[in-house]
This record gives sequence, C-alpha cells and structure tokens, in this order.
Amino acid sequence: MDTIISDFPIFYKYPDLIYLDNAATTQKPKQVIEALEEFYYNYNSNIHRGVYRLSEIATEVYEKARERVAQYIHADPDQIVFVKNATEALNIAIYNLRDRFIHTSYYEHHSMLLPIYRYAKGYKLCENIEDIKADTIAITHASNVTGKIYDVKLVRENNIKATIIVDGAQYVPHYKPDMKKMDVDMYAFSSHKMLGPTGLGVLYIKDPYRYEPLLLGGGIVSNVTDSMYRLLDNIERYEAGTPPIAEAYAFTVALSYLESKLDVLHRLDQEIIRKSTSLFEEYDIRPINTDQDIPIFSFYFKNIHAHDVAEMLDNYNICVRSGYHCAQPLHEYLNIGPTVRASFYIYNNIYQLEKLVKTLKQIVKIFK
Ligand code: ALA
Repeated sequence: MDTIISDFPIFYKYPDLIYLDNAATTQKPKQVIEALEEFYYNYNSNIHRGVYRLSEIATEVYEKARERVAQYIHADPDQIVFVKNATEALNIAIYNLRDRFIHTSYYEHHSMLLPIYRYAKGYKLCENIEDIKADTIAITHASNVTGKIYDVKLVRENNIKATIIVDGAQYVPHYKPDMKKMDVDMYAFSSHKMLGPTGLGVLYIKDPYRYEPLLLGGGIVSNVTDSMYRLLDNIERYEAGTPPIAEAYAFTVALSYLESKLDVLHRLDQEIIRKSTSLFEEYDIRPINTDQDIPIFSFYFKNIHAHDVAEMLDNYNICVRSGYHCAQPLHEYLNIGPTVRASFYIYNNIYQLEKLVKTLKQIVKIFK
C-alpha cells in the first residue's frame, strides 16, 4: 500500500473506495484519530475555569494549539479564534461588518453570502474578484466549485485601506496562507477539510479588539452585573461556552502531518491538473472550467441530473458531491444547473482520475 494511504484507516475498511469529495471533508490519518483518543485518555477536563492541575494541563494543551495554528498561518496567537467551523467564522466576520456596503463575488459559498444578505447594509456580487475596488470586501481565496485560486494579496494592494475578509476553507488544505503578507482583516478556515477533526474552525482576526462576538455566554466576560456585561480584553471574548478542546489538540497533529507532506501534495495537485486536461480531451468529458489551481472539477450534464450521476458513480465506489455545493448563485451566474464535483487530495492518484473520467463517459453513454 502507498505510504500515505496506509496512514488512513478508512482505506483499510474500504480498500476499493475512490474518495473524491475532499472539498466537502477529508479523511483523517491515524495520527489525528489517535490524538483525539490521547486527549481524552490523558488531559480531559474543561479549560480556563479550573484551578486544579488537570484543568491547567488541558488549558495549556488548548493554548498551545492556538500557538501552533498561529505559527502555521504566520499570525500571532492572540489573533486566532477557535470556532465550530468556517461557517461560524464567516458569520462572526460579517456580523461585525453589519453597517457596511460589502463587495463580494459570485464565487462565494453560501456561508459567506447568507450572512451578507442578512447583516450587510447593502452588497454587490462582483464578476471578477481580482478587479474589486471597494471599502469593504468579502471574498473567497479559492472556489469550492471551480478550484480557482484568487490573488488576495493583489486585492489588498488594490485596496490599501479596505476591510477585507477572506474565506480560506478551500485554500488552506492545499497551501499555507501568510497573514502578514496578505494583510487581510479576517480569514476563515476549517480543520476538517485539512485532515483534522470536525467541529473546529479558525477565524484569524488582525485586530481582535475592534470587533465583538456573535455568540454570548460563559467564559468571555470580565464582569457581569444585573444589567450589563464587559467582554474580556483578549481573544477568548469570541469563544463563549466550552470550546472544541480535543479537536484543537488533534488539529495540531493534522497540521504537522500536512506540513510534512506539502511538497508531495503540491506535486500531486499539479500532476492531477495536468493529466486531467488530456483525459478530458480524450474522453470528451468537460468540466465547467479548465483553469483549476487546485484539483476540483465540476461537471454539468445537460440531460442527466447531477444526483443521478453521483449515485451511479457510487456504484463504482467513487464518492463525489452533486448539487449546487452551497454555491447556487455561481451556478445561476454560469447559467447551469446542479453539477457533479470531484475534488482530489493527498491520498488520491492518477489511476483514480482515469477511473472517474472513464466511468463518467460510460454513464453519459447510458443516458444518451
Ligand atoms: N463547503 C463544503 C463543500 O464545498 C461542504 O462541499
């Protein structure tokens, strides 16, 4: 067995599985699964609340996770908020821009668009992310439908004084983002799309004391009276309630695993994208775009519903996502219906790409 695949226990249980739904969530290496167990066996207790030693150990484990995430994205620990997922992170970000007119794009996920629809004073969906010139900008770093990466640093250079928030959910699983270089105001991503556990997202906030939490509750206040509360003057003000402690620990293990494999991943991504071009040509199977930067391919079949295609692929043990991928405005903008999306990651290979394309060809023939 390939050395990377052998780190992923799910492929022992399902050796024939061709898992191509990585933009939705990735599989977990055993190191991450073991880290969750390690936490519960050795450190479990609540944090920031107990003065007993076990609680202090758990608090230290959690805060070290914050430091590790900060280091990974070139930020400071007191700029890192742990939340439930990228969706929650974006909700916090947009809530804090609620009095603004926000320039966003057609390439956004619903988790960016819906909070904008609800909270913004006004908004505009732009066609070209890199051309946006505005005071308040909310954009994706990479599309979950097309696999295209956008130059966030360029957007900052074009908008020196703007408030910029970025959805990094699809970018960070493939590349390390550099907060100091990009100089954005808020940046969101999820652990589970990059080998880590579900239930944990990250919101980077450049200036955390400028903003307020969306969720209120225990652990975020310095004082509460019968009529008011005062928020803590630190990053914990965004983390009401018991946070995902074990998940934060296991995420540090995922980050180390991913970091050690980034070169392999980048080579594989490029190989898959390069090879896809000739395979799509050879089998006349066309994705909706051909300018991928990360290996995400979405296919629209005019006469076959995307869910039917996905169900048929499942008969061949190929897992893909079908539908609008929480990006319905993009599909409408492109004037297409639901699509079938295949997204590749570190344990996939060229053989699986070939199998996907050949199987799609067979399915198209059946429906002709
Ligand atoms: N946002 C995830 C996706 O694109 C769930 O599938």
